[in-house]
Amino acid sequence: MPPEYRVEPLGASHDRAGFSCGVAELDRYIQQQAGQDLKRKLAAVFVLTADSREIAGFYTLSASSILAAALPPDLANRLPRFPLPVTLLGRMGVVRSKQGFGFGQFLLFHALERAWRGSHEIGCWAVIVDAKAGARDFYLKHSFRPFPAEPDRLFLLMNEIEKMFRI
Ligand SMILES: CC(C)(COP(=O)(O)OP(=O)(O)OC[C@H]1O[C@@H](n2cnc3c(N)ncnc32)[C@H](O)[C@@H]1OP(=O)(O)O)[C@@H](O)C(=O)NCCC(=O)NCCS
Repeated sequence: MPPEYRVEPLGASHDRAGFSCGVAELDRYIQQQAGQDLKRKLAAVFVLTADSREIAGFYTLSASSILAAALPPDLANRLPRFPLPVTLLGRMGVVRSKQGFGFGQFLLFHALERAWRGSHEIGCWAVIVDAKAGARDFYLKHSFRPFPAEPDRLFLLMNEIEKMFRI
């Protein structure tokens, strides 16, 4: 990642209209919805930028929960029946001109590290993601596992994430 790039909370200086990752739903989200979600505390929205204006990529995080029954049986059998706290990596995208240069991987690890740090303050069993068309393999490649009945919904245990970041 070139050193001038940093991750910032979405703010007024960022050019949302200029962002396009090639998935219309995600483009619409950052252009029209993300600001409202932020205001209403439905999602925390973070952007990757070199100049606090142009958005090279973004991701969103929200608190969520899942039931153990939705997990593969080897895990489900060892977990309580009440809803398990998780962090939802709701949306993520990299601007089309910068796809294929490691920006997506950088953003994913940034989001995972943020979720892991948060888990020290508020319990979080896993990070989950609903993969958009074509992105499922991206998450599989990065150790996520699918929910048996919802193959496009994937999870990564916080204990596994912790191993990536704990020194
Ligand atoms: C999916 C996306 C975020 C990946 O970002 P990117 O910057 O293009 O990916 P990177 O360059 O960081 O790729 C990292 C690795 O993942 C692989 N990868 C990237 N996109 C992939 C995909 N769709 N499927 C499988 N593997 C993928 C790369 O080949 C690379 O592998 P390598 O380390 O072995 O070379 C980006 O392409 C994107 O925004 N796509 C459109 C929106 C979208 O689908 N978002 C996900 C919504 S859930």
